[in-house]
Amino acid sequence: MTETLTIGEVARRSGVATSALRYYEDRGLIASERTGGNQRRYQRSVLRTVSVIKAAQQVGVSLDEIATALEGLPGGRSPTKADWSKLADGWRSSLDSRIQELEALRDDLSDCIGCGCLSLRSCALFNPADQAGEMGTGARYIVGDSRPEPAVNEPR
Ligand code: FES
Repeated sequence: MTETLTIGEVARRSGVATSALRYYEDRGLIASERTGGNQRRYQRSVLRTVSVIKAAQQVGVSLDEIATALEGLPGGRSPTKADWSKLADGWRSSLDSRIQELEALRDDLSDCIGCGCLSLRSCALFNPADQAGEMGTGARYIVGDSRPEPAVNEPR
């Protein structure tokens, strides 16, 4: 019989909190089997999967993207070195595009340093591309329209 790991052992070996492991499992990123007492038991290979998840998150890959990539692995197995290489290649263009967006945001921030106006009319950070103007005329946020979430992933 293959040795399995408790959630505490996985947490200790991977450096990931048990709450995060349960969350990964709820999201379908990792899987466990249950004992008769309904306790989680993980295959040792889950440590590699957790490492891949953490590495991908560190470079800004979302859990949804990671889940999609892991679903593509045959039989839901843990990623091998070759799999990781393929996954990283797949995320490269998305990362390149985020880097360009962040560089543009950084350039906009340069104009805002020392300003602090957050002008609806001219501040590229508070109202990028005059998004509030699409809701109508006047002070849209003051009359109750919601400010959209920061558009980090939208093209500028
Ligand atoms: S804070 Fe004034 S232009 Fe952005």
